[in-house]
Formats: sequence, structure tokens, C-alpha cells
Amino acid sequence: MGKEIKRIGVLTSGGDAPGMNAAVRAVVRTADAYGIECVGIRRGWQGLITSDFIKLSGEAVGHTLSRGGTILYTARSEDFLTEKGRKKAVATCKMLGLDGIVAIGGDGTFRGALELSRLGVPTVGIPATIDNDVGCTNYTIGFDTACNTAIDCIDKLRDTMQSHERCSVVEVMGRNAGFLALYVGIAVGATAVLVPEHALNFQKDVVKRIQDSRLAGNTHFMIVVAEGVGSAVDIGKRIKEEVGIDPRVTVLGHIQRGGAPNARDRETATRMGYYAVRAFAEGRGNCIICTQEGGIVEIPIEEALAMKKHLQMDRYAIMEAMQIGSHIERNKA
Ligand code: F6P
Repeated sequence: MGKEIKRIGVLTSGGDAPGMNAAVRAVVRTADAYGIECVGIRRGWQGLITSDFIKLSGEAVGHTLSRGGTILYTARSEDFLTEKGRKKAVATCKMLGLDGIVAIGGDGTFRGALELSRLGVPTVGIPATIDNDVGCTNYTIGFDTACNTAIDCIDKLRDTMQSHERCSVVEVMGRNAGFLALYVGIAVGATAVLVPEHALNFQKDVVKRIQDSRLAGNTHFMIVVAEGVGSAVDIGKRIKEEVGIDPRVTVLGHIQRGGAPNARDRETATRMGYYAVRAFAEGRGNCIICTQEGGIVEIPIEEALAMKKHLQMDRYAIMEAMQIGSHIERNKA
């Protein structure tokens, strides 16, 4: 990059995720340690367009490590998708004397970072989304906490479903990906988990699984549906028609995005924030800070955005195998 970095901006964009504050804190404190000033840009990319900023210091981010949400607020900016909006953002960077931007969010945030870097503002991305659907990194900040929140809710649902001998259909977030649903489904011992990555065969994947579970002696059933599959209400209606039981449907919704970040999210966010600033301080930029094989790597933004991450379907098979009476075909030698 050449130019010495003296002042950077940090922003959170897209859907919030537990641990975003921990990442902001780590960025600010690491910047402090390197003698780099830090400005908080509020409301994501939109704040860069409207010059919505706040001066941050090591003290200012005290007591934020354990807080859910994002102290910088977040938004999904339509204006930033336009050339006019992005030019205004560049002008704000110049006006504030920002030598770089740390952008915390998901793929949408990183597409914004790429555009800004093409206009000459160096950017570094930190992956944070409860969906865990960012291709370049095996982990995104917020995923573990969101899994635990969903598990906690479903454990509670199970208590009442068990008492009433009912079937519960629970919709979890995840956008177009099934990471959240499958991890949660395994962890709650779901009767069935429906994810967008697995073509749904309603008879086999839902009806038969409920019937087999019933034959195994169960009197309550837990069906976890990833929002990317469709509406849990529709799945509930089909169960009523095809199995003849009357399920209760729960859409967990935004509760999955809230709450104090857990150990994994605080620790990962702190490491990622540290490495983001270190990249700038050492003269690198225009990359995403990713976790791979347990370590942190920097991947150029364009390359990172082209990377795909697939749901590990062995986990789907493991979920299926957990049902009493399930059958696994042996591999022939
Ligand atoms: O990307 C995070 C996420 O919570 C998705 O799981 C969900 O589809 C979406 O955001 C909801 O967006 P909004 O908060 O705009 O309703």
C-alpha cells in the first residue's frame, strides 16, 4: 500500500451478530497499541456516505466485550450500491483523513469493501454473521452464540412438546444456508432437519422420520427448518395433512441475533480485530481476515468473495443416524 497508516475507520454492516462489539474493541485497542487513531463509522456503509462518525479510544470501548448487538449500529445501505453513494463515501474518508477502513460483516459488507478499495480506500474485512455462510472463512463471528441461543429456545420448546406429546416445527435463520439449522438440529437431537443444501423429499425426510420415531416409542417430535428451505408454517401444514398430527410452529427470528457473545465469539472476534489492524500496520490491506484450519489467514477480497463454502453433508448423515432405528448402508470393500 505504501502510505503509512495513521488513522482508520471501523464499521459494522449488514445483520448484526454477537461478538461484533468484541471485534470493534479489538480493532480500537490494537490500533491504539500501534499508534493508529480510530474513528467509528456508524450505521455501516451508510454512515460513510452521511459522515456519521464517532471518535473511538481504548477507554471508549471499555465494557463492550460482553455486549450483544453493535455499539456502532448497523444498516443495509441502498445508497452505497450506487456510484454516487460510493463517491460520497470516498469523500468522507478524505475529509476524515482515513487511511483505511475495517469493515465487519458478511459477504454483502465485503462486496462494499471491494468497491471502496477499487476507489482507492484500502479496506480489511472481518467476517461476522450468524449464518456462517462466508466462503473464505470456516468460521464467522456470532455463529456459535446464535447456535446456543437457538438450542436454548428449542430445549425449552421440547419441555412443553414432551408434556403435550406434540410435534414442534421450528424455523431458524441462516438466509440461504443450512449451517445454523444443521448444527442446532444435531445439538437438540431433532427428529428431522431441513436444509436448503439437501433436496427435500417430504415423504422420506419428514413423514417417515416422524413415523419411525413414533415406532421407536417417541411421542413428541422436533422438526428444525432452515429459513432457506421455506416457511415453517407451510411445513407444519404439510405435516398435518400427510402425517395427521397437529404441529405447533415457532419461528425463532431475530432473537437468534441477540445476546452476549460466548467464549468462542469473544475470542475469535478479538483475534480477528487484532489481525485486521496488524495487516494495515504492516502495510497490507484489501483482504479479509479468515479462520482456516484453526489459524488466521489474510485472503485478498476479490479472491475471498469468489470462494464457496459447502455445508458438510456428513453432518446431515450423522443427524439422520442419531434416530433410533435408522439404517446406514455399509460401504462394500
Ligand atoms: O444474515 C443474518 C440474518 O439474520 C439472516 O439469517 C436473515 O435471513 C437475515 O439476516 C434477516 O435480515 P433482517 O434483519 O434484515 O430481517
